[in-house]
Amino acid sequence: MKIVHVVGARPNFMKIAPVMRMLEGMDSVEQVLIHTGQHYDRTLSDDFFQDLEMPQPDINLGVGSGSHAEQTGRTMVALEQILQERRPDWVFTVGDVNSTLAAALVSAKLCISVAHVEAGLRSHDRSMPEEINRVVTDQLCGAHFTTEPSANENLRSEGVHESSIHFVGNVMIDSLDRYRSQAANLDVTDALGVDPGDYLLVTLHRPRNVDSPERLAAILSALGELTSYHPVVFSVHPRTARNLKDFGLEEALAPLIVLGPTRYLEFLALMDRAGIVISDSGGIQEETTVLGVPCVTLRPNTERPITVTEGTNQLFYGDFLELPALALERMTEGRKPHRPQLWDGRAAERIAQITLESLAQACSAVGAARPKVETEALIGD
Ligand code: UD1
Repeated sequence: MKIVHVVGARPNFMKIAPVMRMLEGMDSVEQVLIHTGQHYDRTLSDDFFQDLEMPQPDINLGVGSGSHAEQTGRTMVALEQILQERRPDWVFTVGDVNSTLAAALVSAKLCISVAHVEAGLRSHDRSMPEEINRVVTDQLCGAHFTTEPSANENLRSEGVHESSIHFVGNVMIDSLDRYRSQAANLDVTDALGVDPGDYLLVTLHRPRNVDSPERLAAILSALGELTSYHPVVFSVHPRTARNLKDFGLEEALAPLIVLGPTRYLEFLALMDRAGIVISDSGGIQEETTVLGVPCVTLRPNTERPITVTEGTNQLFYGDFLELPALALERMTEGRKPHRPQLWDGRAAERIAQITLESLAQACSAVGAARPKVETEALIGD
């Protein structure tokens, strides 16, 4: 069985690494790793491959930045040619970034089966590009690997056939479990001059928060106020860095401890020792739940509701003047580690097993019936 894995952006890497590792040594499986190049900075890409002990991509499409249509379109054009040459039995696509959607669209149109790792999550907020990527990707997939029961329900209500829904748990937590002790040995907090449990860790990159000068200024003002009580460590995403500059807000960073995008192991160490994490990320909501660190997510909704109902996550999208009081109060809670069902570090093992059993069977059945799709047919009438 030939599997092509498509990854493109930072949050994909820690999810595909354990899946590839589990499928590695299996005689019947040949794996090809394609990096779309959506994220191309060393700090968002290469450093993650290194920390996660991933093989170098077999192919890098080098699509880079651009509008959503440009990024998705460039990925589709480049990927189409490669998938036609390689003719995999399955394409594995991960998460909810533009590369995820592009991989699903191209594969489905070439009649190549697609498996979605982290399927079914829904914020029900179509103003988020990631939600559109999630919804469309899932409609095109033949296998849906899910992380939480709400995802199974979402897929059912969208008409996805029960037989393609595989509740396997959370591969991101597989990576966390594998690397947590290694991260514990890093002297990252000493290097920053902060004490474990005594600092706030912050990330921000959602367009809704960082593309508006008013919102970004209000968030920075709240973070500045918090520095009177505890150090605030801010790991700044390239999109946010660019906007801070463009909006003339760089001075507001002065009271904070500012880092560039942080490598996987260092960030894991920083999360594990933080008093609280404030973020608008997807995956951080899940990681903090397992670590038991209080988390405030600066969004009106989440596609990962289990982190709120069972975990340490709290949504906040009100008046940012109220954020400091909330953050200080939540810092006093202490650690409450929790593992939702099947977040046991063995999700990739389940994916590998299902791949060898049902996906292998499906691909032999589909293989016989699969129409040969030529480029001419696709671009013709
Ligand atoms: C993307 C994903 C988001 C994910 C996030 C994690 C989509 C729609 N969004 O958002 O789901 O949570 O990655 O980081 O796919 N840039 C660089 N260097 C890079 C990559 C990007 O400087 O290596 C800059 C570019 O100027 C670009 C901006 O960051 O315009 C945004 O990058 P992009 O990939 O478009 O989206 P993200 O905001 O990173």
